[in-house]
Amino acid sequence: MIGIFDSGVGGMTVAKTIEQVCPQYPLLYFGDVAHTPYGSKSPETIINYSRRNVDFLLRQGAEIIIVACNSAAATSINKLRTEYSVPIIDVVTATASKATENTTNKRIGIIGTRATVQSDIYTQQIKQRNPACQIYSQACPLLVPLIEEGWLNKRETKMIVRRYLTPLRRHQIDTLILGCTHYPLLTPLIQKRIGKKVRLIDSSIETARYLQSFLDNSPEITSNIRKKNTNQQPHHFEKNLFFVSDSTPPLRKLANGIFGRKINLINTNANTNT
Ligand code: DGL
Repeated sequence: MIGIFDSGVGGMTVAKTIEQVCPQYPLLYFGDVAHTPYGSKSPETIINYSRRNVDFLLRQGAEIIIVACNSAAATSINKLRTEYSVPIIDVVTATASKATENTTNKRIGIIGTRATVQSDIYTQQIKQRNPACQIYSQACPLLVPLIEEGWLNKRETKMIVRRYLTPLRRHQIDTLILGCTHYPLLTPLIQKRIGKKVRLIDSSIETARYLQSFLDNSPEITSNIRKKNTNQQPHHFEKNLFFVSDSTPPLRKLANGIFGRKINLINTNANTNT
């Protein structure tokens, strides 16, 4: 099974795209809602949460892990890769690569949580690919709580998006990285505010594409996943499992909205399905 984790619902944007791109593989999702947001916590805390999330997914039978949280990837990916033997795919690498390919004026903007922006991981990865790129980063710590609350189209959210994006507009970027897996849920607001000439790079789409090519080139892993799931047919999405460490009405509504169907959230703390 493909194990995916995030601090909350953000990684569901990645899970949804993976369902579409690789429908033949069963998914196990874990959203650590009880501890969201990760992006405002210290690297040590995020690393500890990430380890717990990987342990949980491995106990449930995951054979490959997708770190569908930029904040977790930015702070813990190297540690996780040395501590675990399963393949671990992060959301940053494919996204940085796509942004570097896309820019023509070599001016790239990044929006993300404080942890992601402070880690400098996107700047490092883009500069490694093309040192001529200019990177402009903006931490947006208020966006994740607003999204988790389901405030996707409220006036207050629009004002805050505007406030965060105004400095980036001045830098005349042609590419903007949505460096948090929650942000695709605000794509229309962000695109409107940054201008339609700026291409948004969505880490959920780039990661799903990267996973697809990784699986295409890893027959030993895919045959293993298939062997254990011989009944798994493409588009049998109801077999995918969604675990959360807490469950609230706005979260359930958001999860159903992301997937366009009823998602059965299994609350690992309450031991009940919601
Ligand atoms: N979706 C996570 C990310 O990509 C959100 C982080 C948070 O919980 O602050 O960074």
